[in-house]
Amino acid sequence: MFVPGRIFISRAEIDKKVRKMAHAISQDYIGNKLFLVGILKGAFVFLADLIRYLHIPVEIDFMAVSSYGSSTESSGLIRINKDLERECELKNVIIVEDIVDTGLTSHFIYKKIAHLKPESIKIASLLDKPDRRQVKVPIDYNGFTVPDIFLVGYGLDYNEKYRNLPDIHVLDNYSGV
Ligand code: IMP
Ligand code: MG
Repeated sequence: MFVPGRIFISRAEIDKKVRKMAHAISQDYIGNKLFLVGILKGAFVFLADLIRYLHIPVEIDFMAVSSYGSSTESSGLIRINKDLERECELKNVIIVEDIVDTGLTSHFIYKKIAHLKPESIKIASLLDKPDRRQVKVPIDYNGFTVPDIFLVGYGLDYNEKYRNLPDIHVLDNYSGV
């Protein structure tokens, strides 16, 4: 299979981390109504693996958002392409992200869900790229902290490509989003 660049995080490392995170979540939410909100499209692979390692009942929903504006750099303007179908009220929500970069997406979703009167909200992200953060985002469950490089695979794309790669790769010759 054509791959874009060297492996940065292997499938085995990812699996170990996802298992560990699921274990922590299971312990933290035992006896509570857990509602996971996956952010499409990037988080779907991570979410699919995460839920299969949970030991507690869980409800799942998805939101799809995209940023828009004049430039391709994150503008902070975010549009909802697919909204939640399930109620959030009185539920313990975890927003499940592939990667938190500028933080604008997670911040927007966090605020939106906070208005829906959940019991609690947390954020779980497979990857945290803090170098480009523009707004503070509380990441309660973090998989890996990564430098400012562009990563693909395991759900992460570049122009909708490479989401299917089992490992996370560095995208070579990358200059700017
Ligand atoms: P933020 O709003 O800047 O935090 O952007 C989050 C979104 O940007 C993620 O959900 C990804 O879709 C995308 N993104 C940021 N960094 C990367 C990367 O290294 N590879 C692939 N997508 C990325
Ligand atoms: Mg993307």
